[in-house]
Amino acid sequence: MIIEASDLSFSYPSSDPVLRGVSFCVEKGEVFAIVGGNGSGKSTLARHLNALIPLQSGTLKIAGMDAADPENTYPIRQACGMVFQDPNNEFVSSVAEEDIAFGLQNFNFPEKEIPGIVSRSLSSVGLSGFERRDPHSLSGGQKQRLAIAAVLALSPEIIVLDEATAMLDPEGRAQVMDLALSLKERGITVIMITHFVEEAARADRVMVLSHGSVLALGSPSEVLVQKEILKKARLLPLLPTLSYWRLLEEGLISPSSPPLSKEGLWEAMCR
Ligand SMILES: Nc1ncnc2c1ncn2[C@@H]1O[C@H](COP(=O)(O)OP(=O)(O)OP(=O)(O)O)[C@@H](O)[C@H]1O
Ligand SMILES: [Mg+2]
Repeated sequence: MIIEASDLSFSYPSSDPVLRGVSFCVEKGEVFAIVGGNGSGKSTLARHLNALIPLQSGTLKIAGMDAADPENTYPIRQACGMVFQDPNNEFVSSVAEEDIAFGLQNFNFPEKEIPGIVSRSLSSVGLSGFERRDPHSLSGGQKQRLAIAAVLALSPEIIVLDEATAMLDPEGRAQVMDLALSLKERGITVIMITHFVEEAARADRVMVLSHGSVLALGSPSEVLVQKEILKKARLLPLLPTLSYWRLLEEGLISPSSPPLSKEGLWEAMCR
């Protein structure tokens, strides 16, 4: 398991607990979605995975490293990269290639290897030719792909996308989602925090957080078709699921397991 979290609890100074006994494991190469309403603790959990906040209680292992050991802070940050909602807050240079190089220098990569890594990272996100561009002049989708390139440059084992598509239009979202899912083929584990059921539906497994606790954990077709869970997580069901419930209410079909896909809806209607 590349991530092993057991009984994680966390409170900010003078706050109620934000995480309450969160346990889960993620396998290497898995696409693992985390969903939940505003304030349910998703970003706080993400910051644990990247060693941005120290453990208060419970145990956490990232790529075999104990997150409680301060010596592991930097190795964990390199092994587990983060991409945030608003890339504008992340860029440190007005030149795309320098932005990526800066991260590599921070992690003491040998100076002579940096140009090659920068160029390969930009190419791997489809941004070859954008080396000298000001990150702030890019489109939203391009900005997020540049932010992902900066993380990939460090050869991470895990990448955490904390609502990385939230500010994008449908085309930008599709670009970033396709890129995120393609990382799986490179053996990179993807943790995808999202409010969009259609994105969570493309993950291998989904974990639902509610008030800092794990409300559900399973495959998308198990978790994302449960009315109560969707309601608590403040998620909108997918159209096939919604249509199935409407047809059932109208007595037009007989009960079966609610579908997540169009094909599943078709089967339910033919039964
Ligand atoms: N730095 C902080 N100091 C104090 N409280 C915080 C801090 N960051 C977050 N919180 C609180 O912790 C709770 C969980 O916040 P968190 O950002 O982890 O939730 P989230 O699920 O990511 O929400 P969203 O969907 O809005 O991004 C919220 O009540 C929030 O107000
Ligand atoms: Mg958040």
